[in-house]
Amino acid sequence: MTDQHTHRTIGEALDASGVSRRSFLKFCMVTASMLALPPSVGRVMAQQLRKAKRPSVIYLSFQECTGCLESFTRSFSPTAENLLFNVISLDYDDTLMAAAGSHAEAAREKAMKDNWGEYLVIIDGSVPMADGGVYNTAAGKTAHQTLMEVVEGAAAVVCVGTCASFGGIPYAHPNPTGAVPISELVTDKPVVNVPGCPPIPEVITSTLVHYVSLGKVPDLDEHGRPLAFFGNTIHDRCYRRPFFDQGKFAKSFDDEGARNGWCLYELGCKGPTTYNACATVKWNDGTSFPIESGHGCLGCSEPGFWDKGSFYKPLAAGTYTSAEKIAAAAGAGVLLGAGAAVASRMKRKSRLHETDREERS
Ligand code: SF4
Ligand code: SF4
Ligand code: F3S
Repeated sequence: MTDQHTHRTIGEALDASGVSRRSFLKFCMVTASMLALPPSVGRVMAQQLRKAKRPSVIYLSFQECTGCLESFTRSFSPTAENLLFNVISLDYDDTLMAAAGSHAEAAREKAMKDNWGEYLVIIDGSVPMADGGVYNTAAGKTAHQTLMEVVEGAAAVVCVGTCASFGGIPYAHPNPTGAVPISELVTDKPVVNVPGCPPIPEVITSTLVHYVSLGKVPDLDEHGRPLAFFGNTIHDRCYRRPFFDQGKFAKSFDDEGARNGWCLYELGCKGPTTYNACATVKWNDGTSFPIESGHGCLGCSEPGFWDKGSFYKPLAAGTYTSAEKIAAAAGAGVLLGAGAAVASRMKRKSRLHETDREERS
């Protein structure tokens, strides 16, 4: 977090950390693949990033549980985590930084002054607006005051998690703190929402790398979410989808259907109305995701998911008004189900092999 480190190019930072060009190219190729961009863009990303100055990043935490920060700092492998912190210069994060009190605030003010108009703000947590914002204060300022002060000189804002993106748990009825999502307060800057409770680490990383390497936010859906990760429902890509299409449903978590891996729709799965990449990117280095571990999707990346009724009642029970959405999802076809996750993994592998071949040639 020193000047010397902030002003290095990403290539210089990588070299100083002993990260090989080959490892970095792989990282960019995988990132491009996840963003549904062609391999050629991965190579351009690697070239552009090596030449670029590490962008200053200010990380703000408001009403949150630190789960999103845990996710942000734990990408799928220590290598990827190190790579991310070579790509950005994390100049302020009051949870992670060693400095505290006035020293921490001075670091933030200096990062803002030195990088005015160019720094990136990452935010987790919602902002309490009730009773003058007294429910979340730091350094004598309310969360709202800090937010508006910091985003004034920002180039863009990335909301990490459902609390920052849509309000999350603090926003749930009766919302005693008057919590609001960031996009309701920041209306004059690009705001990217990366929801999830918490979001998938690789989705956060890829969104940041896209912005830093290509100089713009990725294409977004109507809720401000990157389309590459939130363009399909969990149900579209779920490996249990063939059972849904055949009408084979588990009726309890320990019945014959559950043991056979049948669809969890009747146990409350919200996959048909939830847009996220869990079924393809998965968690913990592609190990699994909630449905693969035997529990239905809760819908954690959707607006207002805490207030949409029981997690264990099926969608058709009326907790969601989604009959048409379910019908549309079912119409998407079996091929989008079990096949898509396999195809995605194969695509990722083949691009890595392609990189290896290029490196060897
Ligand atoms: Fe915690 Fe979930 Fe909110 Fe993230 S979105 S801060 S994990 S409650
Ligand atoms: Fe998978 Fe849930 Fe859809 Fe069943 S309802 S196929 S478990 S996403
Ligand atoms: Fe959340 Fe559903 Fe994924 S609960 S973690 S969006 S499977």
